[in-house]
Amino acid sequence: MQRLIDRARAAREMAVAPYSGFRVGASIEAEDGSVFTGCNVENATYGLTVCAERVAIWKALSEGARAFRRLAVVADTEELTPPCGPCRQLIWEFCGEIEITMANLNGKTETMRTSDLLPRAFDRRFLQT
Ligand code: THU
Repeated sequence: MQRLIDRARAAREMAVAPYSGFRVGASIEAEDGSVFTGCNVENATYGLTVCAERVAIWKALSEGARAFRRLAVVADTEELTPPCGPCRQLIWEFCGEIEITMANLNGKTETMRTSDLLPRAFDRRFLQT
């Protein structure tokens, strides 16, 4: 997991966050061990901002990865930064029940499962009526 945290931390350096100043990095490990990274990307509309987690997931999916084992998210906060609500929904959709490790720059980490962060998720099962 340290490898994944290190990759997320490096990705955070690329954050495009001129509006919030809040820099986030994420990394996701596919079943075959390959790792994809992302940083948050903001823009002048604010609302079209994309979180680091989503950038990492989009990059992985667009490179053909479809099954994942772990995700890491790194921010410079004492209380560890968790994925936002929309990202939790998309992690559930595309990654399912994986390990999500939150880390800060001081080496503090905590790992949770997707269903801990998003209990009773809505997903495709409900569309099969
Ligand atoms: N952000 C992320 O990239 N991931 C998170 O888990 C929380 C929030 C970004 C979005 C925005 O660019 C900035 O942090 C402030 O919300």
